Amino acid sequence: MSTVVVAATSLVEDELSAAMARVLPPEQAGRDPLLRPSEQADFQSGAAFALAKLAGVAPRELAERLAGEIGAGLTAAASGPGFVNVTVADEWLWQQVATRLAAPRLGVGEPLAGQRVVVDYSGPNIAKELHVGHLRSTVIGDALARILGHLGAEVLRQNHLGDWGTQFGMLIQYLDEHPGEEWRDIALLDVLYKAAQQAFAADPAFAERSRRRVVALQAGDEGTLAVWRELVAISEQAFQRVYDRMGLLLTGADADPESAFNDQLDAVVAEFEAAGLAVESEGALCVFAEGVAAPLIVRKRNGGYGYPATDLATIRHRLQTLKADRILYVVDARQALHFTLVFDAAHRIGWLADPGAATHVPFGLVLGPGGTPFKTRSGDSVRLADLLDAAEEAVRAVLTEKPHELDDGQYAEVVGAAAVGAVKYADLANARTKNYVFDLDRMVSLSGDTAVYLQYAHARLRTLLAKAGPDQGDPDPSQPSHPAERALVLRLDAFDAVLREAAGTLEPHRLCGYLYGLAKAFTDFYGSCPVLKAPTPGLRANRLALCRLTAETLAAGLGLLGIAAPERM
Ligand code: ARG
Repeated sequence: MSTVVVAATSLVEDELSAAMARVLPPEQAGRDPLLRPSEQADFQSGAAFALAKLAGVAPRELAERLAGEIGAGLTAAASGPGFVNVTVADEWLWQQVATRLAAPRLGVGEPLAGQRVVVDYSGPNIAKELHVGHLRSTVIGDALARILGHLGAEVLRQNHLGDWGTQFGMLIQYLDEHPGEEWRDIALLDVLYKAAQQAFAADPAFAERSRRRVVALQAGDEGTLAVWRELVAISEQAFQRVYDRMGLLLTGADADPESAFNDQLDAVVAEFEAAGLAVESEGALCVFAEGVAAPLIVRKRNGGYGYPATDLATIRHRLQTLKADRILYVVDARQALHFTLVFDAAHRIGWLADPGAATHVPFGLVLGPGGTPFKTRSGDSVRLADLLDAAEEAVRAVLTEKPHELDDGQYAEVVGAAAVGAVKYADLANARTKNYVFDLDRMVSLSGDTAVYLQYAHARLRTLLAKAGPDQGDPDPSQPSHPAERALVLRLDAFDAVLREAAGTLEPHRLCGYLYGLAKAFTDFYGSCPVLKAPTPGLRANRLALCRLTAETLAAGLGLLGIAAPERM
């Protein structure tokens, strides 16, 4: 069971709505109280402007009447030509801190309970290393899986591994013809894969032998399958090492590989043919979507199936077998057309009743310094493992300035957490659909909008709390509040709302922005309100509670981005 703590915004909104219902004629009921944060009060409503005419009074007068109706620990006053300013009482504020601290999950609700959501992310291809091209899908998908799950959804992670298709016939043929080559390692496979591609392009006889090998693979030839299985196993182990190093949720159990759908493709395509939705076009079997010129090629001219047919089988499985209420595909923006066609086809065949239930969640590119495509000097994609190594090095360089009391093991852990955090946060903090430049120096800055900054803020709080000792006193809600305390409490109180916003828009950067603002609100508070040396025991206890709630909220928020919050740094 989750205890939902009512946030100040909701409280004020409800009070204003109730006041409006009492003051306005019944036909005006249910109007939006038009609330926003304000400089002069905690919240300001502009509803009187919109409604004065209908009520037949001046906005100022209506504002005064509304203000007069507001109670429940709130102070309200008309302001200017017709605003209603609302401020929560100090006592309510301190009480709210205690309530959130005592509530499970900081009082965040589970509005998505009962919803089963598939999140399709990462999806690397076998026999190639994880590289920067997989970063965004992996990091954004993981954060969305966490956020939706935290809000109560039953999340099914699906890693749609590219492990089937003509390229593997080619690679297996190449390995067969080069028996002296050592290949049982992902880095070696990556190189051999490229060599095989070159041979395929340059040597028609090899290309022909490769095609025969594809047929053998698809026909289940035991010798070919044995090599294929080994390729898959080596690749999956290599992926898992990177996933684990990055602290991702993905495990082998989330694998949903293309090969798993191989034996369903005939039936899936037959279903489209029977429904009259698939038509021959230039020798291929195609499904067209209204208003789109490009077809979804469900069967190639040579009779083979590819990515489109596999994704149709996949979506059918997710809807009919996994019984997903919703499917999110966290995939590169360049696949937008593919998903438009797949979703349209799935809708028209009747599998996807609500076309809005399948969503492509696209993202922009990761660019190299100077805004050019991100490549190594030799023109290859940058491996994720190398990227993490580079981030660790950058983190070590900035952390040398900081004194610490950690032993070597703890220090290495902190460096790892900061490096992974830096890479993830820099990715997540950017608006999802925009490109961004991978800039290590900026990503590890101790003073900027970075994970390390947030991790430090959190660790500093934990240190402070440890210093305060186990008995931190009883909070005293009758104490007054400082403006910096008020601002911090209201920020903390908005955690629930920002999570719902991030889930609703599928934009983790909203949570990043929130956490950064929270850390800054804490810095303001800490600069103006002494905690350990607070003037009275009651205030000291209140401020310590505020520090605890800030630390918990930072840790929870970072956790939902997939970023660790070490206790000490
Ligand atoms: N393996 C694909 C690629 O590298 C990504 C898979 C995305 N998921 C899907 N259901 N199509 O482009």
